Amino acid sequence: MIKVPKKQKKYLQKKKNYLLIKENNLVDYKLHQDIVNNNLKGVKKDYGMFFTPERIVDFMVNLIDMDRLEKKNNVNILEPACGLAQFLIGIKKNHSSFYRKARPIGLEVNKDIINYLINLKVTGDIKLIHSDYLLWESSQKFDLIIGNPPYGIPSLSKHYTIKIDNVTKDKYKNIYETWYGKYNMYGAFIEKSIKLLKPEGQLIFIIPATFMILDEFKKLRSFLSRNGRVQIIYLGPDVFKPEADVASVVIDFRADDKSGELKLLEYKDNKLVLIKGMPHWEGEVIKFATEYTIKLENVCSYLLGDIYDINISQRTPEIKNNPFIITGSYNKNNTYLPLLNGRNLKCNKIIYDNFTGYWIKKSDAKKLRGYFSIPHIVVGLGFRENGKVAAAIDERSYPWMGDIYHLLRKNELFVTAFDLSDLELLEYLNSDYIRKYIKDTYREITYHLSITQLKNIPLPTKKEWLEIKRKGINRHDETK
Ligand SMILES: C[S@@+](CC[C@H](N)C(=O)[O-])C[C@H]1O[C@@H](n2cnc3c(N)ncnc32)[C@H](O)[C@@H]1O
Repeated sequence: MIKVPKKQKKYLQKKKNYLLIKENNLVDYKLHQDIVNNNLKGVKKDYGMFFTPERIVDFMVNLIDMDRLEKKNNVNILEPACGLAQFLIGIKKNHSSFYRKARPIGLEVNKDIINYLINLKVTGDIKLIHSDYLLWESSQKFDLIIGNPPYGIPSLSKHYTIKIDNVTKDKYKNIYETWYGKYNMYGAFIEKSIKLLKPEGQLIFIIPATFMILDEFKKLRSFLSRNGRVQIIYLGPDVFKPEADVASVVIDFRADDKSGELKLLEYKDNKLVLIKGMPHWEGEVIKFATEYTIKLENVCSYLLGDIYDINISQRTPEIKNNPFIITGSYNKNNTYLPLLNGRNLKCNKIIYDNFTGYWIKKSDAKKLRGYFSIPHIVVGLGFRENGKVAAAIDERSYPWMGDIYHLLRKNELFVTAFDLSDLELLEYLNSDYIRKYIKDTYREITYHLSITQLKNIPLPTKKEWLEIKRKGINRHDETK
C-alpha cells in the first residue's frame, strides 16, 4: 500500500480548501496531481493513467443532461477507471445540489490507488469498488457513466503500455462483441458502459479520436450506431500534452433514442460548433468535411479502393522467421535482392539500397508475395514532407517489408472507364491536392495513412484530373 508522506499529509491538513470533498466543493487538482505523480509513478504507466485537466473535467460535467436527471430520485452515477475520482469530484463541484441526491460509485482496478484515496479521506460519499471494470459484474444499471478510460492495446509485450496477460485478454475477447484486431481498452470500456446504462442513460467519456477512422473500431462504430445517438466533440491533440500526444474527443452517448444520429462538433472560440450531422449513421468512418474536401469528392468519379486492391507488406517478425531471408552485409553478386522498406520510399522515388539488412534470393522474392514479380505502385504508411502521401512505381519489382502498401489494379468490368495512367496517378497521389484532402478530412487523428483512408481517397479520371489541374479545386463547379 502507498503511504501519504508525512510532509504532504501535514500540508494537506493545513490547507482549508484541500480536496476533502466531504467538507467543501473546492478541489485542488494540481496538488492532487502532484502527489500522485510523486507517489504513484510506477503504477501510472502500467495502467494507462493520465490526468484529465480540470478545464476538461468541468467541460464534460457540464454536458450532463441535468434537466433529465434533476427530475429523478436516486440517480446512479458511475466513474469507471476512476483513478482519483476526478469526475465525481467535478460533478460535486459543478452541480452540488444534484450531487446530494446522487449515488456515486468509483471503480478502480488498482488497489493502491483506492487505499490512497481512503487514506487521504478524499472519497467522501463515493462508494469505491476495487475491480477490473471489464470483468466486473454489476448488480445495477446507471443513469450516468462518466470518465476517462484507460487507452492502449492490452499486452505484456514491451511495445505496449497496458500490461495485461493473455488469459485476461482472452476473457475480454470472449466477452466483448466489439473486440476486433488490435483492439484498444477504451473500446471495450465503451461497450461495457453502454450495456450498463439505463434505457435513458448517458455516457460521457474522453477518448482518443482514433475510433472515428481506424479499422480496429469498425465493430465499435456499428455498435454505437445501433444502440443510441452519438455526439462527438473534437478537442484536438493538445489536451494531454506533453504526457501523451493523442488527438482527443469527448463522446456524449445517449441510449434514449436508437436513431443512430451522429453529430460531430468542435470547441472553437469558446463555443461548440457543429461540423457535420448524420441523421442515420450506420457506423461508417467519421470524417471531417470542408468546402475543399466536398468539392474534390464531387469532382472525382471514383475512390482509390474501387480501382485498386491494397495489400500490405509483411512486418519484421514475419520476415525474421522466414526461411528464405538472410541478414547482414551480404555480398550481393546479383543473385540476392535487398528487402526495401519505408526508408527506401520518397515522394515519386525509390532508393534501391539495403537499409533493412535483409536479403532474399531473386528467384525467391515472389515467395514472399506473388506481386513482388510485377512492377506496381507502392504507397507509404507514414506521411512525408509535411503531410504528403508518398507514392512511387517499383519498376524493378523488388521485395518489400514493413509499412508499405502495394496497389494492384482490380480486374473488374465496371472500372474499365477509369483511364488515369500510373504516372498520372502518382502525380495526383504525391500532390498538394491530396496532402490538403487528407489534412482536412482526418486532421490530427493519426500520423499514419490507414488502409481505409487510402481506399477512400477520391480518384479522378484522366479528364477530371486535367480539369482539377486547370481550374484548381476551389473554382471547380461543385455540381459538375
Ligand atoms: C486514463 S486513467 C483515468 C484516471 C482518471 N479518471 C482521470 O481522468 O484522470 C485510467 C485509470 O484507469 C485505471 N484502470 C486501468 N485499467 C482498468 C481496468 N481494467 N478496470 C478499472 N480501472 C482500470 C488505472 O488504474 C487508472 O487509474
